[in-house]
Parts: sequence; C-alpha cells; structure tokens
Amino acid sequence: MKTIVVYKSKYGSTKTYAEWIAKELGCEAKDAKKVKAEDLTQYDTVIYGGGLYAEVIAGVSLITKHFETLKEKKLIVFSTGLTPLDCTDYYGKMVVEKNFTPDMMERIKLYHYLGKMVVSELSLPHKAAIKGLKKLMSSKENPTEMEKLLISLCDADGDFTDKDAIGELVAYAKQDVV
Ligand SMILES: Cc1cc2nc3c(=O)[nH]c(=O)nc-3n(C[C@H](O)[C@H](O)[C@H](O)COP(=O)(O)O)c2cc1C
Repeated sequence: MKTIVVYKSKYGSTKTYAEWIAKELGCEAKDAKKVKAEDLTQYDTVIYGGGLYAEVIAGVSLITKHFETLKEKKLIVFSTGLTPLDCTDYYGKMVVEKNFTPDMMERIKLYHYLGKMVVSELSLPHKAAIKGLKKLMSSKENPTEMEKLLISLCDADGDFTDKDAIGELVAYAKQDVV
C-alpha cells in the first residue's frame, strides 16, 4: 500500500502531526503547497491534515474538490484545533457540515487532534480575528454553551499537541482494507 501524508499548517502543529504519522507509517509527509491533486492518483492511501480556522479544515479542498477522482482510495483527513475533543456536536456536526458532503463522509475517515495557539506567534490578522470573535461573543446577552466555549478558547495560549493521539489513525491506515 502506497501512502502519503499531505498537510497545510500555518503555525506548525498540523505539520508536527503529519510528520509523526508519516514516520509511523514509513511514508512521506508533504506540504500541500507542493502537491497537486493529480499527484495523489499514484497512492492507495491519502492522509490529509489541516488546522481548523473558523471550522474550516485548512486546504481540505485538495481532497473535497477532487473527491470524484480520489474516492476509491483509502481517504483519511485529520484536523488540529483548540476545541476540546469531547465536543462531539462541534466535531461531529459543525466541522463535518462545513467541510464535507454526506457522500464524502461515507468514504473519508476523520480524526481530530489538539493543536497549538501561541499568541505571540499569531499573525496580525489572526490576532485581530481572535480579538473580534471574543468581543462579538462576549457582547451576547445569553451566550449558548458553544459561545461560552468560544470565548474561553480565545484566551488559549499554548501547545497542546500530543503524539500519543495518532495511534488510532496509524492503525487504521495500516489496515489492508479500503
Ligand atoms: C484565526 C483563527 C481561527 C481559528 N479557528 C478555530 C476553530 O474554528 N476551531 C478550532 O478548534 N480551532 C481554531 N483555531 C485554532 C487553530 O486551529 C489551531 O491553532 C491549530 O493548531 C492551527 O494549526 P496549524 O498551525 O497547523 O495551522 C483558530 C486559530 C486562529 C488563529
């Protein structure tokens, strides 16, 4: 089985996971900037990782826009983000609906990992976006649980990457079934 890990990573956490996964699988991890959809046709298993930005898995259109060409492969997508992993509504509904169609979800195995946000490293537009989001959410009279969570996530500052988290994905990628 020929496997590749492709990633898009602004601050490095998705790249870190991609490299951990690739090392476990003995395959290459490539920056999505250097990969075209047609390059992926030679692989049996395509693993794509991207950071979450406003629920969008960065760069995942490399897979979703070319789903018809890629759908017979073993397709695995992982995200990195700051939302706690036990927020099943967030990952199971919001992230899924924002990035994939139901057809895609039948073929794509999805994993989520904690990433990092080190405030001092953020670009000015990202700093402004986080500040704006916090202000907007904080102005709500009766914030929902999700909105309260978002407010608290705006104050996150740290690296939450965890190598132990990749085990399930790696085991699935190694299975000889598509
Ligand atoms: C502007 C901005 C928007 C973000 N939006 C989300 C989000 O919707 N959900 C989430 O869980 N994390 C969100 N995050 C946190 C990032 O997903 C997290 O920092 C991730 O590890 C980034 O991965 P990367 O550095 O590999 O691009 C956001 C971070 C920034 C700076």
